[in-house]
Amino acid sequence: MIDNTTIMQRDLEVIWHPCTQMKDHETLPLIPIKSGKGVFLYDFEGNSYIDAVSSWWVNLFGHANPFINERVKKQIDTLEHVLLAGFTHEPAVELAHRLVNITPKMLKKVFYVDNGSSAVEAALKMSYHYHLNRGKHKSLFLSLTNSYHGETLGALSVGDVSLYKETYAPLLIANMQVPVPKDQSRKAAREALSVLQKVLESKSDDIAALILEPLIQGAGGMHMYHSEYLEGARRLTTAFDVHLIADEIMTGFGRTGKMFACDHANISPDFMTLSKGLTGGYLPLSVVMTSDEVYSAFYCDYNEYKAFLHSHSYTGNPLACSAALATLELFEQNDVLAENEKKSQYIKDKLERFSMLENVKEVRQQGMIAAVELQGYDAKERIGLQIYRYGLQQGVLLRPLGHVIYFMPPYVISYKEIDRMMDVAYEGIRKLEIRN
Ligand SMILES: Cc1ncc(COP(=O)(O)O)c(C=O)c1O
Repeated sequence: MIDNTTIMQRDLEVIWHPCTQMKDHETLPLIPIKSGKGVFLYDFEGNSYIDAVSSWWVNLFGHANPFINERVKKQIDTLEHVLLAGFTHEPAVELAHRLVNITPKMLKKVFYVDNGSSAVEAALKMSYHYHLNRGKHKSLFLSLTNSYHGETLGALSVGDVSLYKETYAPLLIANMQVPVPKDQSRKAAREALSVLQKVLESKSDDIAALILEPLIQGAGGMHMYHSEYLEGARRLTTAFDVHLIADEIMTGFGRTGKMFACDHANISPDFMTLSKGLTGGYLPLSVVMTSDEVYSAFYCDYNEYKAFLHSHSYTGNPLACSAALATLELFEQNDVLAENEKKSQYIKDKLERFSMLENVKEVRQQGMIAAVELQGYDAKERIGLQIYRYGLQQGVLLRPLGHVIYFMPPYVISYKEIDRMMDVAYEGIRKLEIRN
C-alpha cells in the first residue's frame, strides 16, 4: 500500500518544489495528496485538509467538481490540443465571446496565453509595442509599491515584493513604482493619486503603462485599498496617454464580491489579465484582453512589421478552454455572487473576534478574501510557518504570507466548513499570543 512517507521520499529524490527552501523539508513533511473533493484534499493515509487558499487561489467550485469534470472528459475525446496560429477551435472561440460579454465594455479582443506571468509579459509587450506602432518610444512601466505580477523577468520587474525580486535586480527591465494607498480609506486613495498625478506630469512621455492589482494586492500580504484609487488611476492614465493594465489574475471571477475588481469602480482598463479562477482551478490558461483601439494599431500589411509576434505552445488549449467554459456556466446556473455575498458577511462576522487578540494588528476583507495581519514578531520567527504547521495538524490548509493569515476558500465552502477553517486559524493565532 502507498503511504505518505513513500511518496514523500520518492518526491524529494527528484522534485525541486516552487517557492520553497528545500532544506525546510528535512523537518517539515511534504503532504502527498491522493484526491480532492469539494473543499477537501485527502492524503494517502486518509487525512483531510480544508483547502482554505483554493490551491494558490485557483479553485472556485471545489476539487473534482462533477460538472467541470464531465466537460473536460467530453473535450478530451474530441480534441486535446491544436496550435492556435492559423488554426482555431470551438472552445477557444466560445470562451473568447463569453469573456468579451462579461468583462468591462472596452475589452473586445482576447489574446490567449497559458499562465498568469506570461499574460503579464504579453500585456507589457503589447502596451510598449502599441506606442511604438504609433511612433512613440515609451520604455518605462509604472506599478504600485508592494505589488506582485508574477515571477518571469518582465512580471518580476513590475512587481515590488523584495523577497522575490531583489536577487534578480540586475536582470530586470525599466520600471518605477508609485505608492499604493496605505489602507482602505478614501483619504489614502486620494493621497496616492496625487503622487501618481505628479509622476505622470513629469514622466508620461516615457511611460507605456501603469499596471496594478485592482483593490487587493495578493502576494503583497492581501493589502487592500479603496476603489476610488482605480477611478482616479483610470482618469489620469487616459489624460496622459498611458495605458492602464488591470491584473485581475487573482481578483477576477468573483473573488472581490463582483465578477471583476474593476467593476467596483466601473472602469474599463486598456488591458486586463486573467488566469487562476478562469478554468475553475483545473488547467493552466490565461488571457490578455484589450480594446479594439489597441488591436487596430497592430493590424496592417505584413511587411509593415507591426504584428504582435508573441506565442506559447499551449496557448488556448482546448481542454483548458472547456474547463473555463464549464466554470462560466456554473456562474450562470447559480447566483454565485449573491451566495458569496452571504458567505462574505458570515466570514465578516466571524472575523470580529480576531481583532480582539493582542497579536492581531488588523483584520480586513473584500468579498471572499479575508486577512488577519499579526504584529509583534520578527521575520526570523517565521510565524506564518508555525500557523501553517498548526493548520495542517488540525486539517486546514492555511498558507500565510509572512505574518498575514488569510482565507480565500473555494466558493462551494459550507458554513460549517467556514467555521472549522476560521476556528482553527483563531486557535493557532491565540496559541501564539499565549506563548508571548
Ligand atoms: C496578481 C497576480 N498576477 C500574476 C500572477 C502570476 O500568475 P502565475 O503564478 O500563474 O504565473 C499572480 C500569481 O499569484 C498574481 O496573483
